[in-house]
Amino acid sequence: MTKQFGYGLLGLKKFKALSSVSFKLYSEPARIFVVIGETGSGKSTLLKLILRMLIPDGGTIVYRGRDVFRLNREGVRWYRREVQAVFQDPYESFNPIRRIDTYLYDSAKFLLNIKSREEASPIIDEVLRFVGLDLERVRGKSIKEFSGGELQRISIARAILSRPRLLLADEPVSMLDASLRVSVLNTFREIRDKLRSTIIYVTHDLATAYYIGDEIAVMYRGVLVERGPMSDVYSEPLHPYTKMLLNSILEPDIEIRKKIKPVKLSSIEIGEFLTPGCKFASRCPYAMPKCGSKEPPHVAVDERTVMCWLYVR
Ligand SMILES: Nc1ncnc2c1ncn2[C@@H]1O[C@H](COP(=O)(O)OP(=O)(O)O)[C@@H](O)[C@H]1O
Ligand code: SF4
Ligand SMILES: [Mg+2]
Repeated sequence: MTKQFGYGLLGLKKFKALSSVSFKLYSEPARIFVVIGETGSGKSTLLKLILRMLIPDGGTIVYRGRDVFRLNREGVRWYRREVQAVFQDPYESFNPIRRIDTYLYDSAKFLLNIKSREEASPIIDEVLRFVGLDLERVRGKSIKEFSGGELQRISIARAILSRPRLLLADEPVSMLDASLRVSVLNTFREIRDKLRSTIIYVTHDLATAYYIGDEIAVMYRGVLVERGPMSDVYSEPLHPYTKMLLNSILEPDIEIRKKIKPVKLSSIEIGEFLTPGCKFASRCPYAMPKCGSKEPPHVAVDERTVMCWLYVR
């Protein structure tokens, strides 16, 4: 799948925010699939495509045998029940002048076709209890009466109302106090273990990724450079970018750590997005002449896939 955006003064020049990203997920066993990448690497774009909030310029998404961009009205409702999301900023998910329980009742109506409050209340109470709250505490209140952590729990409760098979999480703990993060992360684990949902969890944080992920996909400038079981990737990263990313925190010697070039976290280098070759070539210590001009293929190495010329035999 590919997604382009305009850039420059008028937005007429195009770059691929997501370039030929391709992967398959299986629903059994339920797993947490982490997508890690710096800010601007294309993570949110990927989730927005899966949610049908954006349309790809190339490729498509097939969910349980159906092309998600060719669904009819009933298909869209089905897809909404099956695939739900939790976003980064809980304050953006709710309108401050609306009572928060109305969001839950609306979702029950739209997703589960439950129109009566009496019928919806026990179901809403159940999902709120799942995330450590209950309807009594939430009923009739506005967002001002909750902390960021509680609001994020309510967003999660709303997202699991329809028992989605696939839950997307876009940096859901990055705006929470460090002290609250682990318990919210544990809630995602419980969703995997008890509701058996598959979770795509997006983050830029290595520690979070390691804590929560069963599998990991590493994004760099709009491409997936490495993907595989979490423990394999962390213990022996294959792609030079993954190596650099992990070395930057795992190198015990602080003097060496200081010498490792810090990864740019905020500004995007359009040039790297635009290169016809490997996006990492200008920073890669192993770069070969062809790396700058030819895009490396996705190479299978054991249970992993690596997008790098070093592994082509
Ligand atoms: N609607 C848009 N129009 C133009 N550029 C966009 C748009 N959305 C995202 N981008 C750009 O696409 C790149 C990837 O963005 P995004 O997917 O939000 O990255 P991430 O979530 O990894 O931080 C960034 O360079 C971003 O500025
Ligand atoms: S393809 Fe070449 S430049 Fe890219 S990561 Fe591999 S060795 Fe480095
Ligand atoms: Mg993002």
